[in-house]
Amino acid sequence: MENLLSIKDLSVKGIEQILEDAQRILDGETKSIGQKTAALLFYEASTRTKMSFEMAAHRLGISLLGFSPETSSVQKGESLYDTVKTVEAIGADIVIIRHPEDAYYNQLQQNITIPIVNAGDGKGEHPTQCLLDLLTIYQEFGTFQNIKVVIAGDILHSRVAKSNAFALRKLGADVMFSAPSVWKDLSLPYDYVSMDEAVENCDVLMLLRVQNERHAGASSMTNEEYLAAYGLTTAREKAMKKNSILLHPAPINRGVEIESHLVECDRSRIFKQMNNGVAVRMAILNQLLQKGGHLHVVAN
Ligand code: CP
Repeated sequence: MENLLSIKDLSVKGIEQILEDAQRILDGETKSIGQKTAALLFYEASTRTKMSFEMAAHRLGISLLGFSPETSSVQKGESLYDTVKTVEAIGADIVIIRHPEDAYYNQLQQNITIPIVNAGDGKGEHPTQCLLDLLTIYQEFGTFQNIKVVIAGDILHSRVAKSNAFALRKLGADVMFSAPSVWKDLSLPYDYVSMDEAVENCDVLMLLRVQNERHAGASSMTNEEYLAAYGLTTAREKAMKKNSILLHPAPINRGVEIESHLVECDRSRIFKQMNNGVAVRMAILNQLLQKGGHLHVVAN
């Protein structure tokens, strides 16, 4: 496969190969691509994903084409397709896209010949975040088999939840959700538990950001009410198992999903996730841009 659009496209071998390459990079292996150019087309705000792709490209010797929807011909009505076709014509070797539309990439696949990396599509998927989360979990436990993972929060609007739940179950983890009724996604085949049950039983608590920008109206809950019922409070953190860890894709709504002082508590791996993100994205860019490079995909 020459694109990374959905985590569902990767075989177990494909996932393992990215995690192994990323770990070798973290352990000191150097990689260099050189003479390649990547275009970053971010139509939604980002700090981590965009900057870690920039850092990954920098470390691999890849040049970057900058883009901002506010100062580009998007302002004149240029379509996503025409923008991607343009960066391809200009000479980009790969395009990394974040876009608010679910599965935006369906309109590109037929006529775009350079690799496309999905850096987040609406409420759809976030495959590179998923891969860095998988690496963080694997570093801790050395396996995914029977690891109890609870993904907690705004499940309905979360692309992180969808990619991670699918991949973790495929890799043998025991995946459950925890969410207020209004943000449950009952189309997905996972059981729900309360936050109190979650913290007592899980090995990995993956908190999600409350995605206010994707909510139609004002929330019926205050931040304090959300934290008390569905967030990680000091009391809940104390109830977690000794070796269980805490993840959050960030950005974090401090005092909503989590009490602020817990963001850097001993069991938090939140900033480790970000560090892992650079190595994972280096591994992905390296695999896609090598001569004849491709990712291992599920058999159709
Ligand atoms: N986790 C994540 O996707 O963060 P950004 O929105 O800052 O890229």
